[in-house]
Amino acid sequence: MDLDEQARQILRKNDKGGYTLPTHGLYPYQWNWDSAFAAWGFTTFDPDRGWTELETLMSGQWDDGMVPHILFHKVDPGYFPGPDVWQGRGPIPSSGISQPPIAASFMRKMLGMDPAGEPRARAMWPQLKRWHAWFMAWRLDEGAVCITHPWEAGRDNAPDWDAAMAGIDPTGVGEYTRRDTSHVDPAMRPTKYDYDRYIKLVQTGASVNWDHAKLKEINPFRVADPTMTFTLLRAQRDLLALGQKFGEDVSDIPDWIETLEKGAETLWNAELGAYDSRDVLTGKFNGIFSNASALCWYAGIDDARAMPAIERVMDAVEYGMASYDPAAEGFEPLRYWRGPTWPIMNYLVATGMEECGQTSMADRIRSDTARLMRLNGFSEYYDPHTGAPAGGATFTWTAAVWLGWARFDHEEARGVA
Ligand code: DGY
Repeated sequence: MDLDEQARQILRKNDKGGYTLPTHGLYPYQWNWDSAFAAWGFTTFDPDRGWTELETLMSGQWDDGMVPHILFHKVDPGYFPGPDVWQGRGPIPSSGISQPPIAASFMRKMLGMDPAGEPRARAMWPQLKRWHAWFMAWRLDEGAVCITHPWEAGRDNAPDWDAAMAGIDPTGVGEYTRRDTSHVDPAMRPTKYDYDRYIKLVQTGASVNWDHAKLKEINPFRVADPTMTFTLLRAQRDLLALGQKFGEDVSDIPDWIETLEKGAETLWNAELGAYDSRDVLTGKFNGIFSNASALCWYAGIDDARAMPAIERVMDAVEYGMASYDPAAEGFEPLRYWRGPTWPIMNYLVATGMEECGQTSMADRIRSDTARLMRLNGFSEYYDPHTGAPAGGATFTWTAAVWLGWARFDHEEARGVA
């Protein structure tokens, strides 16, 4: 079977009717940013199903505007922590944090692919605006977007969070049984040290019923993050373009964009020569080059200062781009966000570069991504040195990246990116 058909089959097999699992077993629910990729992947062959994916995601929106990072549509004992631990307060059982807000950007892309979907996009636009307003109200520090849990950035165990995680006292977290390590080799997953702190943060949020004002006072973890800052900045630009097309009130959005542009600049770590995460509670940069450092172009910031570090990191591996600097202490080529190459990040990074005219690096990242999939199918992530598949197999968002982008040659990719 050719790769296109394999990718379509992955999406169909992970389809639970209205929402798509990232992969069976390891992730048995609807994840927020995975779902945006799934919607786009479906739109390449079944646009109706693509729109439904986004609608199901938005149906979990909380009263205050937040769209949660996990929607627990149907309880599955194979996942921990489930809805009983999170105790989210939305219309659908959910987690209590959000995730990188890429849905508006994918909605704009999907509309380009399927103009007939416009009534459905119009219906979701106000929901997306409320979600973006929620970030502006609750997650800013000097204009940069903060996370309140490592899972909010989507880059769960990235070295960016190590310093802030060290400040969390996990005493009293209690006994629990992880499920992720029964699906995937523990060497490719976060450690118990990490999980104790992840769960402690969930318990802290649940203890105040996810009241954001109270949580801001007591949460021991608040980090300004390039993933969130750049994806929200990009999403605000896309929301603005869509709102203008739909004749909506867009008067708040230019100010939001200006605030986030200023916030992005606060993440520039001149000593590192890269965009970095910043611990809000200590005021210190984390000193970490990650693949999120390269998302500035995706946010519309064409920054020549950022390219030398990216070239060095790309040159250090066979299949770029690594999620963490291969020259840094603690680089682990197979452990989740501490080294592996992630097709979804490659897509976001390269799409931004492509749009800003940085085509040679964009082409290089796209070729590396396509080579990984041709070599080893549609894994969650890959060893950047050998290309070995890692994490969950038959992965929805990796299949979507193939269908929507990686399978094209460079000239074709320019047309679709
Ligand atoms: C997990 O369970 O590993 C998820 O990434 C949390 O969002």
